[in-house]
This record gives sequence, structure tokens and C-alpha cells, in this order.
Amino acid sequence: MEYFFQAGKQTSRNLLLLHGTGGDEYSLLETAQFLEPDATILSFRGSIKEDGMNRFFRRNGLNQFDYQSLAEETALLYHEISAVSQKENISLHDWVIVGYSNGANIAAHLLLSRNTELRKGILFHPMSLNVNYPAKIMTDTQIWLSYSKTDPIVSSIAITNLIKDFEMQKAHLTLQETFTGHQLTKAELIAAKSWLSSLSVN
Ligand code: MLT
Repeated sequence: MEYFFQAGKQTSRNLLLLHGTGGDEYSLLETAQFLEPDATILSFRGSIKEDGMNRFFRRNGLNQFDYQSLAEETALLYHEISAVSQKENISLHDWVIVGYSNGANIAAHLLLSRNTELRKGILFHPMSLNVNYPAKIMTDTQIWLSYSKTDPIVSSIAITNLIKDFEMQKAHLTLQETFTGHQLTKAELIAAKSWLSSLSVN
């Protein structure tokens, strides 16, 4: 997969960025800069193309997910995260995944479906992909998640189901409501930054 990597300060957190539909590995750099100015950054470009737009897995129309593609691309993403982390000598524990929309969806799916050493995530406007996850315990996983009741893409049932998935697996969840649909807002960035600063540095 195409990616952008930039080493930051040892004393800062490490951010793993996953863009939304139509974005690329540069789309969330400004967000990352706001969240943690001196972070080490690893940012992937989704390898699926939909009408020229990059995504992390295929769909057959809005919210009609291609589960074969989801499984394959999640495996590929995890393989790539592991490979770059090994190359750069960064423990998987030390990444905070920051995903928006489609990127947040594959991040949530990766965390819920697999036993990995990834432990922290900021998920902007994710949704349930209607997958039955294996029972596993995520008490050592910390997730910050934003949603809006006026989101035209993420229905209230889709966010409720995702929250239930994390709760069933006993992940530590912090929820942030926003008021402008699927968009990223300054207020949620400030809230996410404050949550991030409460996490220990590596
Ligand atoms: C998805 O396909 O992951 C969701 O509909 C969000 C998006 O449109 O990217």
C-alpha cells in the first residue's frame, strides 16, 4: 500500500492515519498536526478505487459493503501496519489509530475482528458494518468515537450497533456527539485532542 511516514519526537504519541472516501495519505496530516504537533505519523492510502476515489474496502453503493473486500483489505492493512512498524522499530501498542469515515470503519473492523496489539483509536464518524464479531475481551483498548444524530451516512442504529460491539468486548469508550452531520468539526478535534493528551506517551 502507498503510505506516508514521518518520524516525530520520542516524547510525542504516534498517530496512524486512515482517511475517508476520496482522501489519500495526506488528507489527515493537518488533523494530526492539530492533535499532536510533533507526532510520528504513519498514514496509508486506501488501495481500492471507486470512481477514482480512494477507499479502504469496496462497496456496492452507499453502505452496501463488500465483505470479501473488507476481509482482504483489513488483512492487507494489518500486514502493512505491522511491516512498517517493524521497519521503523515502533511497537504496535504505541500507535493511536486516527480514522475518519471509511478509514474509521476499517479501523473499527480491524480492532473488533482481530487479536492485535493495536490498543488505541480515535474514530471520527464511524459506523457498524453489520459484522458479527468473535467474543474477545478488549479491556486494554481505549477508543474515542464521534457521531452525529444528523449524519446522512451513519444512521443512529449504525452508530448504536458499533457502540454495542465495543461495549460487548469491554473496550474503554469515550463518546463525543457533534451537530453537523458527517463533517469533522473544530469542537470534536478539540475534544479528541484533550482525550489524546490524557493517554500515556508510549
Ligand atoms: C463506508 O463506506 O465506509 C461508509 O459509507 C463511509 C464512507 O462513505 O466512506
